[in-house]
Amino acid sequence: MKTLANIFLGLLIIKAVVSAPPTDSVNYDTAAYEVDLLYNLYDYDENTNIDQGEIEIGTVLPVVNRPILSPEPVQEEIEEEEESTPKLIDGSSPQGPLSPGVPEASGGVSTCILCGCIRTTVYCDDHNLDAVPPLPKDTTHVYLRFNRISKINKNDFSYLSKLQKIDLTSNIISDIDEDAFRSLSQLDELILLDNNIRQLPELPHSVSFLDVSKNRLGRKGIKQEAFKDLNDLRLLYLNNNNLDHIPIPLPDSLQALHLQDNNIQEMHEDTFCNMKDFTYARRSLEDIRLDGNPINLSKTPQAFMCLPRIPVGRLV
Ligand SMILES: *[C@@H]1O[C@H](CO)[C@@H](O)[C@H](O)[C@H]1NC(C)=O
Repeated sequence: MKTLANIFLGLLIIKAVVSAPPTDSVNYDTAAYEVDLLYNLYDYDENTNIDQGEIEIGTVLPVVNRPILSPEPVQEEIEEEEESTPKLIDGSSPQGPLSPGVPEASGGVSTCILCGCIRTTVYCDDHNLDAVPPLPKDTTHVYLRFNRISKINKNDFSYLSKLQKIDLTSNIISDIDEDAFRSLSQLDELILLDNNIRQLPELPHSVSFLDVSKNRLGRKGIKQEAFKDLNDLRLLYLNNNNLDHIPIPLPDSLQALHLQDNNIQEMHEDTFCNMKDFTYARRSLEDIRLDGNPINLSKTPQAFMCLPRIPVGRLV
């Protein structure tokens, strides 16, 4: 009888160990997040919104956990519902309640429950999303990597006037409305790496880092003079797209142009330099990648005269 009791006790212990909640093992890109955290800390020194961020985190997290822990009753559930209404969260914001009827007022908060928000950065990586979720109106940075988003609509981001960074890496985006990013006058970084994009939409002039590598831009995916007026553009990554030409003209601000692993067969002497003005120097553009293209750089030696460095690529 005693051994039976021991076995029973042993089983109980094993059960308790097995049913312990698993630790969160999602492998986030911590380096990128840390940069944003630092950036946001800096940003918020000049900003009065810091209380709002903390209140959102403090009130939102317990609501998620409580239904799992509480075994009973109906009364508590009613209390929870009251607590989880967005009114309470918005009402406590220093700017006062948001106007009723604005979808992002409630939707943005629920996205912070579903995903996670730290101050004005939304972390929604790897959540099986098939569309861009509603986001809080003061969002500055949004991570939507490793989801199943297939289309970017006109109004997915247009109400977020403070957006500085959008990262949509590794979705299945094939379609982007032409004006999806047009109104985002603060947008600095747009990361569309590893999708199925066939047509690049209009870009706000504030963009300094654009990554559209590993997509399907091909022969027609980039409109004429698409980058001409982007006077803050520093990094342009267009590798692995089956491009058959170098998209010109390129702004003088450009520091890196990645075109490796495309189908570019030729370039002109005016692609980077100015054959009418030999004093012209394109000093910033130090990093041009043309390797993995069927192009022979030795054929156009004049084309690199104004550059600080010869592009990486085949020279024989
Ligand atoms: C590359 O161009 C140079 C200069 O025109 C030429 O001598 C060389 O044969 C070309 N190489 C190939 C593989 O076509």
